[in-house]
Amino acid sequence: MIVTKIKLFLAWCFLIFLVFSCQEDSTNKSDSNFILNNSSDLNAQSIDTLLQGKKLFKKSCSSCHKINSHFIAPPLNKALDKWGGDREGMYLYIRNWQEAEKKGYARAIEVQEYGPTVMNIYPNITDEELDAIFAYVMSFE
Ligand code: HEC
Repeated sequence: MIVTKIKLFLAWCFLIFLVFSCQEDSTNKSDSNFILNNSSDLNAQSIDTLLQGKKLFKKSCSSCHKINSHFIAPPLNKALDKWGGDREGMYLYIRNWQEAEKKGYARAIEVQEYGPTVMNIYPNITDEELDAIFAYVMSFE
């Protein structure tokens, strides 16, 4: 009798655990949902761009940057705002931050204060690749 009760109790615990872990899954803002959230204004071409951006971001940037929170480096989804919308200046910075600093870009100088780590340089990254990365990160709030 007591054994049955213990089994029943354990079964309940398992059930409750299952319910909670499922709930967590559905509220977890997994980034694979980003396409669904914004699907109304997406066509096949922009989905390709977003997927390319996601891949590049994960491969080259995510070791230091998170999309929308602070990490070793600043969040990238609002970076273009910090550059006052100056995409060209920001891309120059990403290719070679020292050059952008030398040219006197205010944000390039200001962002040096961010932390002890320095930004990598990406001299060969193309506009298209950067457009894809920023289309992807800027699809997040
Ligand atoms: C090794 C770590 C590292 C990697 C990898 C890295 N960054 Fe950075 N990035 C930084 C740091 C640190 C800063 C802040 C400036 C500083 O402290 O030197 C920064 C700053 C920036 C800024 C300026 C942000 C702002 O708010 O003005 C942009 C834009 C940027 N990075 C884009 C990228 C992109 C795009 C990639 C991938 C292609 C990338 N970074 C990869 C470390 C990194």
